[in-house]
Amino acid sequence: MTGIAIEVDGTSVHVPEGASLLTAVRAAGVELPALCSDDRLSPAGSCRTCLVRADGRIAAACVTPSSPGARIKTTTDDLVRLRRDAVKIIVSALPPEALAEGNPSELAHACESLGIAPETAQSTGGRGRDDSHPYIHLDRDLCIACGRCVRMCSEVQGTFALTLVGRGGDTVVAPGTGGPWAASDCVACGGCVDTCPTGAIIQPGPARGITSGVGPAAARTRTTCGYCGVGCALDVVTQNGEVAAVLPARDGPVNHGHACVKGRFSHGFRTSPERLTRPLLRRGGTLEPAGWDEALAHVARGLRAAVDAGGPDAVAAISSARATNEDNYLVQKFMRVVIGTNNVDNCSRLCHSPSAAGLTASFGLSGGTDSFDDVERADCLLVVGANPVEAHPVVGARLLNRVLHGAKLVVADPRAVGLALHADVHLRPRPGTNVALFHGLAHILLAERLADEEFLRARATGLPELTQLLADYPPDRVADITGVPAPDLVAAARLYGRAERPAIVYGLGVTEHLHGTDGVRSLANLAILRGAVGTDRGYGVNPLRGQNNVQGASDMGALPDLLPGYGKVTDPAVRSRAERVWGVTVPARPGLRIPDMFAAARAGDLRALWVIGEDVCATDPDASHVAQALDACPLVVCNELFLSETARHADVVLPVASWLEKDGTFVNFDRRFQRVRPAVPPPGETRTDFDIVRALAKAMGVDLGCATPADALAECARLAPVFAGLSHDRLDHEGAVPWPCPDPDRPGEAKLYLERFATPDGLAHLAATPYLPPGEEPDDSYPLVLVTGRRWAHYNSGSMTRRGGNLALDPVDFLDLHPDDAARYEVRGGEQVTVESRHGRARLIARVSEQTAPGQVFCSFHFPASGINRLTSDHADTVTSCPEYKVTAVRVAPP
Ligand code: FES
Repeated sequence: MTGIAIEVDGTSVHVPEGASLLTAVRAAGVELPALCSDDRLSPAGSCRTCLVRADGRIAAACVTPSSPGARIKTTTDDLVRLRRDAVKIIVSALPPEALAEGNPSELAHACESLGIAPETAQSTGGRGRDDSHPYIHLDRDLCIACGRCVRMCSEVQGTFALTLVGRGGDTVVAPGTGGPWAASDCVACGGCVDTCPTGAIIQPGPARGITSGVGPAAARTRTTCGYCGVGCALDVVTQNGEVAAVLPARDGPVNHGHACVKGRFSHGFRTSPERLTRPLLRRGGTLEPAGWDEALAHVARGLRAAVDAGGPDAVAAISSARATNEDNYLVQKFMRVVIGTNNVDNCSRLCHSPSAAGLTASFGLSGGTDSFDDVERADCLLVVGANPVEAHPVVGARLLNRVLHGAKLVVADPRAVGLALHADVHLRPRPGTNVALFHGLAHILLAERLADEEFLRARATGLPELTQLLADYPPDRVADITGVPAPDLVAAARLYGRAERPAIVYGLGVTEHLHGTDGVRSLANLAILRGAVGTDRGYGVNPLRGQNNVQGASDMGALPDLLPGYGKVTDPAVRSRAERVWGVTVPARPGLRIPDMFAAARAGDLRALWVIGEDVCATDPDASHVAQALDACPLVVCNELFLSETARHADVVLPVASWLEKDGTFVNFDRRFQRVRPAVPPPGETRTDFDIVRALAKAMGVDLGCATPADALAECARLAPVFAGLSHDRLDHEGAVPWPCPDPDRPGEAKLYLERFATPDGLAHLAATPYLPPGEEPDDSYPLVLVTGRRWAHYNSGSMTRRGGNLALDPVDFLDLHPDDAARYEVRGGEQVTVESRHGRARLIARVSEQTAPGQVFCSFHFPASGINRLTSDHADTVTSCPEYKVTAVRVAPP
């Protein structure tokens, strides 16, 4: 038994060293009011409701550390009286609503257990309300100034949006900026709602009074968030068959009870009147409602006609990083078994395919190298090309928390956003110069003997070639290429190079480039040089995945060259393993990647395209050419929630269930399989992607097997050794299991490569790839560089987040530009501006900000109507065809 032994009311308990008496009391199963305490927050010790007697002395349990052998009493009459008096004083300043019948608050519960009558709350109030925010309302009369919301906002979320104002009994919580809540810095993580003990801060509507801790009896379904790739565990609360609230799970393995504005609040899209609930079939040029039998028969006929006209390779499918693993498994099986082609790809092609290629080449497996939990031990974070504070808020909060606890922070990103504001060193490279930047850092690591020579000798290869290459990347030359001052480079390299456990976290600012795979590999070089990967001396190299199941869609083999578990289709042994399971011959020729599918359609070679859950006309680059491709293809089938830009070009639109309505699994950014469970039924005639794939196979005369999603994962486990130990049953019992997981009786590998790398020679491979310029560069005609990315309130094409309260939080698409450029091009903030590239034109609202460097402009891609992806080029990563979203030469002008 480890920890400290303590006696609580005669019962012996063990608690960790440093734990409070409150922890010990709770470990003994004793209930104690603790109105200013939340075990996720630093203690305040201000409310005096948690009084106990410790070795004879009266103490506030929440702020008193446990000491070995201490004897705690909680039940003596004087203690009960003291606690009751403390709560009574608090309650007497509150209005009757504080203890109204049915109030589920922590305070009401404490009063009930202490025998405090509801009439004790008799204040007439008068402090007023703030209902300005769509998701968070404040009743100041119910505030007891416990400060939990303020600490939650600063210590867990890291936003510092709230403060306490006023004096004495008039102290209340308020946004730190003054003014209404909706205009504050609040990012709507909902943490204040969850921790508020009185109901002063609530989520309005049916969710009122429901929090992670307490609330009215209602059905709760544990599932995994369907927005970004963090993989937050959520409890969906339903009442009368509808979603009443989505709450972060306190035992969520990644989110630890936290969430963001998307996962927690943005589910209004489900019941939007624009939601598709019946299949649509194009008749006479118009999409019209149809029955499922008719729609599926039409698709089946179209697919057969395409195969008859052009062979199996005349058909292609774009599977979805939004869909479950089981959906993706079945889609790729459909294409290989029913159609007989490898023409299946998924939207990771557009984001993290360079991560897959780069990490596989450097280390052997297509995933991040470590469990995110290990970041808690990192003493230096190198965050590159990522804005997790907005795009992955729960990870952003955990990273910031690490920094606030003393870890050094180097941010490499052209924009001064999010974590950059807290960085020890902020490197702002010109977009498209990452490889030179990483080589510059590596040069300094070698020059200053900060590399781990023993690790390099024993576990890495390629050092001589890299050393020779790095001779060409001294700080001054790298400064010329990247625009990063040489002293900043040196400072950053020293922070990373001298840390005991450095960590690399990166995002699409590394991958979405003409040389994105080279970027991943040259970034991985840094961890190899430091011996910070495959050891306990660092947190390796870890990509933040943009969509909920980017990792899983590829894991399941929804790729043109790889089968489930990353076996190559060109490898006869891999094919024969799949053939044994599927009972058909698997085609050996790799299929088309997404951009090649569009090119084939425009050339007349692709005769049927099935697009599943991706709005390619809004999110893919050079969108005008994408639309031309769809129009040229004789049959376009689209699985969608809404009539998206892509669906408008389709011949058949099949309405599908959302992530709140389906069964399966997702794999998050640190390779954890987690369960997805239906909390509510899909609306109308909507079906799951899984059911649709099976039904279409049946319409084509093929039984795909896999009657349930659980059967599909079981079949995948038989086919792919790295998933052999996984099953729904296991996940239901264990919650989350990382892959590789080859054995049902052993845990998955959260941290990779501790004994050997998964490359053929077992070594980490340093990459000596020279810096090459981006595909687009500014010139006199197009003098600015456009970078695209995400904003905190929205997600991808915005089809879900623009239908609900998030639109009120972030209503329009902005073009951010530096004040110098605004003056030079006579653009005023708040006015419409035209943006033109060599490929197209878009209209946005200008926002003047120093977050964006001179010579660069930034916008999101959440508002397809702006046409932002008509601007982006068809330049793509030379290895994986991932688009160069991060560098487009543009010019701006008033409209
Ligand atoms: Fe201990 Fe408030 S909970 S003093």
